[in-house]
Amino acid sequence: RQPWPGLIEAYREYLPVSETTPVVTLLEGNTPLIPVPAIAERIGRQVRVFVKYDGLNPTGSFKDRGMTMAISKAKEAGAKAVICASTGNTSAAAAAYARRGGMKAFVLIPDGYVALGKLAQALLYGAEVLAVKGNFDRALEIVREMAESYPITLVNSVNPYRLEGQKTAAFEIVDVLGNAPDWLCIPVGNAGNISAYWMGFCQYHQVGKCDRLPTVMGFQAAGAAPLVNGQPVQHPETVATAIRIGNPASWEKAVAVKSASQGNFYAVTDEEILDAYRLLASTEGVFCEPASAASVAGMLQVKDQIPSGATVVCVLTGNGLKDPDTAIKHSHSQFKQGIEAELGAVAAAMGF
Ligand code: F0G
Repeated sequence: RQPWPGLIEAYREYLPVSETTPVVTLLEGNTPLIPVPAIAERIGRQVRVFVKYDGLNPTGSFKDRGMTMAISKAKEAGAKAVICASTGNTSAAAAAYARRGGMKAFVLIPDGYVALGKLAQALLYGAEVLAVKGNFDRALEIVREMAESYPITLVNSVNPYRLEGQKTAAFEIVDVLGNAPDWLCIPVGNAGNISAYWMGFCQYHQVGKCDRLPTVMGFQAAGAAPLVNGQPVQHPETVATAIRIGNPASWEKAVAVKSASQGNFYAVTDEEILDAYRLLASTEGVFCEPASAASVAGMLQVKDQIPSGATVVCVLTGNGLKDPDTAIKHSHSQFKQGIEAELGAVAAAMGF
């Protein structure tokens, strides 16, 4: 059995790389497609549900797929430094891949709204972290201008190589299932990933690797749902800080995916997100971050629309360990603290 070579090597023929492109990789990709039967049961018909657990990438999110491409191409072009705005995961991935490729990394994050694990990663990977007094949308405007005015490469998903790398998740799903799923459920923030998946499915369809395309359902947090409302949100708010975005950069692309796939956008409340988050962990043993759980929350919200016999894939974009605060804060009933270190006290606390 060949060891996994990382996604650029695995899918080289479908990616804009040449023999001379220096490949900066942490062997990302090849993440598991996990059946979630207890969740499928809640739909109540003969439906197969899988989660694409992209939280198992090297830095714990799907961003690694895009970053191996963006950083390899930046290195090929001779870049010395990269910059991004981020709700956290992009900054962690940019930092890891940039440093591995011998480049500087600058990341702008919304001050106070990035999960602890992501901040820890960006710092330890060696990025310069600039926490700005504004939200993600404002930070993205600033880095776009920075990249125009200074010799620094932008690695947000407006960099086309990011989506090229991220489309490989769709390839992996088809490679495992033998076809495209009937439905793809995906959390949507800046709308890069939904666009990347669609590119991947279309490309695989064109070369005959699958004979259908999925219906793509995009889910946004109710307090940050511009694509559902049809207009930007000035002050996005949600517990799912990864998708706390009011004006997605890939807006038009995402709308095109909706119409081409006959899909739709829906809003899920923070409560629905947290319910799905706990459900995935406590019934399936899959720990994702809150933003990722929006895909499962959304699927459950619109479950009556799923055709009987369908295969559904929910994308879990990030690892639960990214955001330990949210996990602990929403598990208080199970967490009994300050128990005396005595057998009797422990037994009593256990209900014996
Ligand atoms: N899920 C997670 C865990 C994310 O980190 C993001 C985006 C998304 C979903 C949404 O993906 O933006 O392509 O629609 N995170 C970006 C970041 C914004 O900076 O890490 P999208």
